[in-house]
Amino acid sequence: RVAYVNGVYRPHGQAVVHVEDRGFQFADGVYEVWSVADGRLADFEGHMTRLFRSLGELRIDPPMSREALTRVLRETVRRNRVRDGIVYLQVTRGTARRDHPFPPPGTPPSVVVTAKSMNFDALEAKAAKGITVLTQPDNRWGRCDIKTVGLLPNVLAKQAALDAGAGDAWLVDEMGLITEGTSNNAWIVDKDGALRTRDIQANILRGITRQTLMEIVKEEGLTVDERPFSVEDAKQAREPFVTSASAFVLPVVGIDGAKIGDGKPGPLAKRLRDLYLDKTR
Ligand code: PDD
Repeated sequence: RVAYVNGVYRPHGQAVVHVEDRGFQFADGVYEVWSVADGRLADFEGHMTRLFRSLGELRIDPPMSREALTRVLRETVRRNRVRDGIVYLQVTRGTARRDHPFPPPGTPPSVVVTAKSMNFDALEAKAAKGITVLTQPDNRWGRCDIKTVGLLPNVLAKQAALDAGAGDAWLVDEMGLITEGTSNNAWIVDKDGALRTRDIQANILRGITRQTLMEIVKEEGLTVDERPFSVEDAKQAREPFVTSASAFVLPVVGIDGAKIGDGKPGPLAKRLRDLYLDKTR
């Protein structure tokens, strides 16, 4: 495997950044994840647009043009011979002596790109079973719409879920409403049959898979109700599921130890997964 690090492709084991990189010291950086299908990057433009937005919100200079970055992403996928997998891109505010203010103008941002293969059949098997989730308090900062590498609350919530024997955590705000998963957006088909996902505010990431799935849903003549739902709504739902670049559409079959319906993936989640895969892969 090789990784791109600041202009150079290095063997994966020797791909390193400086100890004074601001990503390392302050989580002062952003990232994106694309899924790769047949060597092509899914939802390419959507993720690229969100990357530039995240950079803008943090006032990090874009390290290069969209075109140049596109070439680096494709080249990293090619050099790693990834047909099915994911590509990861991280941009930080660069390397400078540790100090809280922004480094001097002209300090180049750091850019890292990695790509890895994933077993598509294993992902399909996981989706066929569905996952369970554990609810956890959402104690993240107020700008979850920016895709920063500051993911400690997400990491702790995910580990708490795994330790409890669940597959992921769903984060819950002070009102008892679900914000999103630790690395995915949360959806339900509620007990009345309405397809719901939380509206876009600063407290969730504007998922690209969410966005594409909303288009698909409209093409199917269905509607999405962008309205928050409570833990109780989710437990009584016909079908909860999550969306992300790495999981696509993944059914949820249990919440906090309680089975949803018969404990099997629901029909709409399955259908939306197939439609998403047909459209993007
Ligand atoms: N996570 N919400 C959070 C907190 C996320 O980290 C992600 C993506 C999503 C879904 O966004 P998208 O559909 O654009 O992938 C929602 C990536 C996959 C990750 O951290 O690995």
